[in-house]
Amino acid sequence: MAGVLPAASVPACGAPGTDTGEKSAGTSARETPASSVPSGKIQPGWELPSLADIYREDFKIGNVFGPDTLSGDSFRLIRRHFNILTAENDMKPASLTREKGVYDFDTADAMLSEISAAGIAVHGHTLGWHAQSAAWLNTGVTRTEAAENMRAYVQTVAGHFRGKVVSWDVLNEGVDFSGSFGGNWHDALRRDSDWYAAFGSEAKKGENPWDYVELLFREARKADPDAVLYYNDYNLNLSEKADAVCAMVQDINDRYRKETGGPRLLIEGVGMQGHYTIGTDPKSVEKSIQKFLRLGVRISISELDVGVPGAEPDGLTPEQEKRQAIVYAKLFQIFKKHAASIDRVTFWGLDDARSWRAESFPLLFNGDLSAKQAYYAVADPDGYLAKVGSEETFRQSAEAAPGTPVLGKGQDPAWDKAREYPVTQQLQAWNYASGTMKALWDSDALYVRVQVRDASLDASSANAWEQDSVECFVSESDNRTDAYGDGDGQYRVSFRNDRSFGSTDGAGVQSAVEKTEDGYCVTMKIPFRTVKPASGTKMGFDVQINDAADGVRKGVVTWNDPTGRAYTDPSVFGEIILR
Ligand code: XIL
Repeated sequence: MAGVLPAASVPACGAPGTDTGEKSAGTSARETPASSVPSGKIQPGWELPSLADIYREDFKIGNVFGPDTLSGDSFRLIRRHFNILTAENDMKPASLTREKGVYDFDTADAMLSEISAAGIAVHGHTLGWHAQSAAWLNTGVTRTEAAENMRAYVQTVAGHFRGKVVSWDVLNEGVDFSGSFGGNWHDALRRDSDWYAAFGSEAKKGENPWDYVELLFREARKADPDAVLYYNDYNLNLSEKADAVCAMVQDINDRYRKETGGPRLLIEGVGMQGHYTIGTDPKSVEKSIQKFLRLGVRISISELDVGVPGAEPDGLTPEQEKRQAIVYAKLFQIFKKHAASIDRVTFWGLDDARSWRAESFPLLFNGDLSAKQAYYAVADPDGYLAKVGSEETFRQSAEAAPGTPVLGKGQDPAWDKAREYPVTQQLQAWNYASGTMKALWDSDALYVRVQVRDASLDASSANAWEQDSVECFVSESDNRTDAYGDGDGQYRVSFRNDRSFGSTDGAGVQSAVEKTEDGYCVTMKIPFRTVKPASGTKMGFDVQINDAADGVRKGVVTWNDPTGRAYTDPSVFGEIILR
């Protein structure tokens, strides 16, 4: 499928060309190969090969709909690429009913008829949720009333849309906990759900709050027996949360199957929302897919977007856009591999300007509906990765020169041999500090000099990371795993020369700080702990500058890490090579 790759890197922003007419998602994917884009001209997204066609044998490709997406160029883009749609808001309880017994289906119905006329399927979202709900359903009512209201709501709503939706998110985000999963899914349920509270209100009579989950699914099955019933949630790539959801689905399905004796499951699908960032490890997504597969359920990626934390308000840098595209490509390689079990991959938004996470530019299309690198990565993941290389090939790479500097002397001539690198990648919108770094090495240690430009220095927070400070990250074996291990360490030095460490006791670390005209200069010695260094040795490495004011951290800049997760995840470090 190399034909869909752009000839040259596609600009991040720009005006789409003139409208050349509509093409439905049924049009051949091959007729407008993007590689024929003349460089400089930006092609509107609806002229590019249809994602729905590309993945026709694998799974449906979805997006959201709302009042501003079903006309003009937006609808053109939708019809080109997507063969199933989810209402971004208009089929949630809050949109359909405000008072008991009163429902307003007009807006949703009008949109559904446009969608159906375009030959596009609809997934229902969502019957039960703790947010965007209606107070009459479950707030301040008894368990008995809540159960009656649930029945009435599900019968009315799922009954109304019967035949118009192929599947429903029956419960959204019912599980919520952090920490380790102890084995009982009841303990993992979200406590701030009014459904949970109402069903627990007669606990004295031995009634259990968690019953609401099963009842919701049973009502949905009755109201629309043809719809595939889904449990939908976020962070399902986190293994503990995935385990809790597995336990819940298994328990409810076992009971249902015992009762009905039939093969059909009650909870037939798990929707992994997929609100990721460029720091998300695609392998964690695959691990969870494999867990859900063992339950025998269908899987959908129901709300996919891949945000870039700390993006500048005016858009992504080419480097950020490429990193984002690589995550998309790796995710789609995984989705393709498991296509036999995946029903649908739905993106949560058409374009970056209208995304619910617009500040992190998480989607395939720019606000002007031109395609980003992410589009090309999704259209042809293998080809894209072959072309741009994997993540490893363009993480920042620095060199450390041989030498042993005098600490506390930033102008020591030993530093003259070392190349200087900017530490300017901003992870937060507001930032007043930036800097440069250099590195040297000898048989004992790595030496790092960071010169920080920062006009006002602050150490009034009790937390070391919220004081003006410099952090170095070293992964001696460059293992690139997502957790710290032997030889990985975080080394922090404040502008007052206070030292603090992560994943090491900091034995042998030395540092000095000099005040400079426009900030401060940190020099530090980081002893090697697990390697015998030699010329050519490569290590994981990063530098971060924390910018504090008024007792809080206002900004963070890094040399390589685009995610702000270096303190916990060595796979986001850049690399340093000893010369
Ligand atoms: C979001 C919509 O995108 C926003 O427009 C709205 O303001 C809030 O809800 N998980 C879900 C979705 O299941 O329904 C949410 O959608 C995003 C998180």
